[in-house]
Amino acid sequence: MTTYLPPVESKDTSFGVKLYLGTSMVVVLLMMVVGLLMRAAQAGWLDIPADIFYQLMTTHGAGMVGISGLAGASIMWHFLSRHVHLSRTVLYINYGLFLSGVVLILGSIFWGGYAGGWTFLWPLPAKSMGLWSADAAASFILGLLLIGVGFLIFNLDAGLAITRRYGSVLRGLGLDQLLSGEIRSDHPPTVVASSMVIIVNTLGILSGAVVLVVTLANLYFPELVINPLLAKNLIYFFGHVFINATIYMSVIAVYELLPVYAGRPWKVSRPFYAAWAAATVFVMAVYPHHLLLDAVMPAPLLVLGQIVSYLSGIPVLLVTAYGALLLVYRSGIQWQVPALWLMLAMFGWAGGVIPAIVDGTIQINKVMHNTMWVPGHFHFYLLIGLLPMVIGFGLHITSAHKALNVQVQRTFFFLYFAGAVAFSVAFLAGGWASVPRRWAQHWPEWMAYDQVGSLAAIVVIIAMVGVVIALVRRLLERNHGTTA
Ligand code: HEM
Repeated sequence: MTTYLPPVESKDTSFGVKLYLGTSMVVVLLMMVVGLLMRAAQAGWLDIPADIFYQLMTTHGAGMVGISGLAGASIMWHFLSRHVHLSRTVLYINYGLFLSGVVLILGSIFWGGYAGGWTFLWPLPAKSMGLWSADAAASFILGLLLIGVGFLIFNLDAGLAITRRYGSVLRGLGLDQLLSGEIRSDHPPTVVASSMVIIVNTLGILSGAVVLVVTLANLYFPELVINPLLAKNLIYFFGHVFINATIYMSVIAVYELLPVYAGRPWKVSRPFYAAWAAATVFVMAVYPHHLLLDAVMPAPLLVLGQIVSYLSGIPVLLVTAYGALLLVYRSGIQWQVPALWLMLAMFGWAGGVIPAIVDGTIQINKVMHNTMWVPGHFHFYLLIGLLPMVIGFGLHITSAHKALNVQVQRTFFFLYFAGAVAFSVAFLAGGWASVPRRWAQHWPEWMAYDQVGSLAAIVVIIAMVGVVIALVRRLLERNHGTTA
């Protein structure tokens, strides 16, 4: 058996980070099984009634997005706390609010029958046509609010800590150095990425909170209303920013860990600062690309959505993917298992952005947006981009004290890689053939795509079971280096 201990991981992992990471890994696995149930139902292999399908879809969507936030937060906290003083109490408060929110959300879905989707359209929660009660919808909304409040406090604490050390969050982002041209190469990339996340996530969560509070009030006081188009804008602004921020938090693992394996530092530079500054604006300006089918949207916003779709993400992706390639080129890197996952993440993130840009083009969006093309692109960069960053981070910090079984973990890696690519491509191919998204039952002509997707999902889940068992066992071990 070949074993492996990572190069240097001098700092012990805080118990809170382990709690976040372990919870995230187990929940992701459970949510994958929920996803498989839906995919198998679409494939005609399982008979799931439509109301249950939409309950599963709501659980899977809200569950995956929320838990990606928790996983990303564990990476950000772990590395940011090396540079600034972060509050452990806040870390645990966020966790407590997250769990309370999850309980309310699960209760609303499986007890109350709520099935409005994680990005519901206003006023759907109040118009269930008898499928769920106002109380069930209120429980879902309250659950989302609690989770949002937790992340808001988390971001505010991180923002305060950066301000105390660097003067302001904008200085943390490196804006002063970008404008003055005086680049301090010892400024940590982690602080730059965290500053961006703090800015966009705070604004995103606040706008989500507005629509959630109005929706909650409207459930019991129907005369209290909001313009549905404004509500949709607020919901998609929040949803787009939150899910993107999970990637921007997780990419910190690439900045911090790939250099450890390659034996070279990852230094900030002017293009690096410029990319992160641009991404801060673009990630907030691009959300109208989710509303290209809404003919009532002001045309300039739609045009903005299309143009920024071409630009958004690209700067950071370019500096990160290109930076990662430069870092490993001729570095003599020994492709240990965590490094493999981190590099796969670069591929998944870059690959998933391409179909997203295609869908961001108005003329294409008109025919593709309500098809499986969309789950195809976001599963590509979440499954092959985001999750590998989290897994690479998890395997790195947990193998510092107990070696990994390299052959076994490599097998899981390649299984996951093959399964996840096939799974995402099956979605994209279905979209290409105009198979609609969010349909509980599929026509026989569409089922070949669903069946390939289901088989690929089984492969992903098998690999994930292997990874999660290895990770959780190590996290639970007493001698694994832990700080309070
Ligand atoms: C084995 C892994 C997975 C399987 C089998 C799976 C399956 C599915 C299926 C069947 C759908 C519904 C597609 C439709 O008809 O529109 C879906 C939607 C979704 N999935 Fe996954 N998925 C997996 C992994 C993930 C991951 C890793 C994430 C995020 C980190 C994720 C996030 C989502 C989201 C946000 C939706 C949209 C829900 C909605 O439309 O409201 N999934 N998934």
